[in-house]
Amino acid sequence: MSMMEFTETLSDKLVKDIARAAKALRTAKTALVITHIDADGITAGSIASITLERMHIEHTIIFEKKITEDTIHRVNTSSADIIWICDLGSAYLSEFKKSNIIITDHHVPDPKYRKKQTFIDGFYEIHHLNPHLYGVNGSYEICGAGMTYLLSREMDPKNTDLAYLGIVGAVGDFQDDLESRLVSYNRIVLKDAIDAGDVIADTDIRFFGRENRPLTQFLQYSSDPELPGITNNATGCSNFYSELNIPLKDNGEWRTWNDLTPYEKDIATEELRSMVSGDDKAEKHLYGEVYTLPKFESHIGLRDAKEYATILNSCGRYDDAETGLRICRGDLTALNDAEQNRSDHRRNISMALSYIKENHLIRERRFIQYFDSGSEIRETIVGIVAGMLLNSNEAKHELPIFAFAKADDGIKVSARATHNLTDKGLDLSIIMKTASEMVGGFGGGHNIAAGATIPEGKEEAFLDIVEDLVSSQVI
Ligand code: C5P
Ligand code: C5P
Ligand code: ZN
Repeated sequence: MSMMEFTETLSDKLVKDIARAAKALRTAKTALVITHIDADGITAGSIASITLERMHIEHTIIFEKKITEDTIHRVNTSSADIIWICDLGSAYLSEFKKSNIIITDHHVPDPKYRKKQTFIDGFYEIHHLNPHLYGVNGSYEICGAGMTYLLSREMDPKNTDLAYLGIVGAVGDFQDDLESRLVSYNRIVLKDAIDAGDVIADTDIRFFGRENRPLTQFLQYSSDPELPGITNNATGCSNFYSELNIPLKDNGEWRTWNDLTPYEKDIATEELRSMVSGDDKAEKHLYGEVYTLPKFESHIGLRDAKEYATILNSCGRYDDAETGLRICRGDLTALNDAEQNRSDHRRNISMALSYIKENHLIRERRFIQYFDSGSEIRETIVGIVAGMLLNSNEAKHELPIFAFAKADDGIKVSARATHNLTDKGLDLSIIMKTASEMVGGFGGGHNIAAGATIPEGKEEAFLDIVEDLVSSQVI
């Protein structure tokens, strides 16, 4: 188990930089918000948008899959008083030729930009708020929504009612995976969310779908850790409950994990934990902290932070981030509009997983594994699929996974690793950036999850470089 030390106090330098950015924001009358399409990006953008609205600053918000030439042009030619870029931007700092930009991001920053620089680059005034500049790891210590929230809270202490969105963003980016609980700066956000009455942190089985998945599916479809006789075994799952005398239905309705009585939950939890006893790692993954948003009713899909994040992902990754934004703004009628996205997302993920499995598409090299999904998997979800495969028995746990998908502007590559590999020195953000640039593309991200776009036809050359880089990093 990792023995990392985490701080739950913001660095003095960051506190000062946040205050400076807040000062700049207070003088603005108009703003442009640019944010990412995933759950963390949507929650970050919502926090920014609500913060601006409360300050009567007129603004528009745009969602981007990634920073492109167009985005850079849009930023550099914008007439808004302030441009607030959330969950994106750090990797492209040297491209922004304009003042009054605020970036609240957690991606690994642009190395071309002067180190430790957070304010005023030459003639440009760029407020760059990124945990990596303060010795804090943006892969698991705080996310884009969290950084955005810290600035929002500085603007007005009443904005602590937005802290819960920072928690949804963090679990959407899997930041609670490392320790089976949120750590470090994320706990500052968590404390505000708990104090505001918006989040309850409990200890429970950490599988996906506590609020919404029928009891059997809750166990059947979860594979981290794998439970013998349970994972991918529908009959095994119903037997599990019937042996404990736990009914699967109530009044004809499928019950969910959170519908269990405290007694039922206790005996089922104990039984599940006994299946992995002795395996510290599996035990820790199975049972840990979970985040409930009590203001939302059961079964609507927002009461569990992970499920909330999945709804946002299912909007953003299907060109409908606006519906996600409406949900974060409290418009629950948007849930009806999100329903189609949710079912598309569920179906696409399951089809993508079967496509890779049935066609045995995962190829192995000595230091890496990869698959090419052609046009069969949407470029916006190929990373999610790669992550799920890496967590399943379909792929090797010891090798990082690289996944290709056709995109409008070339070949999208998504890369995913495990904490074991990053502990050994693997850094996918450097690998994706270096290898993609060497074949004429671009990319970046985090040590554990990163992405790139490369020109079509360069896949093999890219993999050769990636393999060299992986082998040189992992000792
Ligand atoms: O752009 P952003 O930082 O918000 O995205 C991080 C991405 O990395 C998310 O899509 C998240 O799903 C993914 N991730 C992952 N596995 C991890 C950590 C992050 O798939 N262990
Ligand atoms: O798209 P995917 O989910 O694989 O992205 C993983 C991580 O890599 C995200 O944090 C994303 O923002 C980042 N990424 C990037 N540059 C790209 C593609 C993805 O920084 N060109
Ligand atoms: Zn993020």
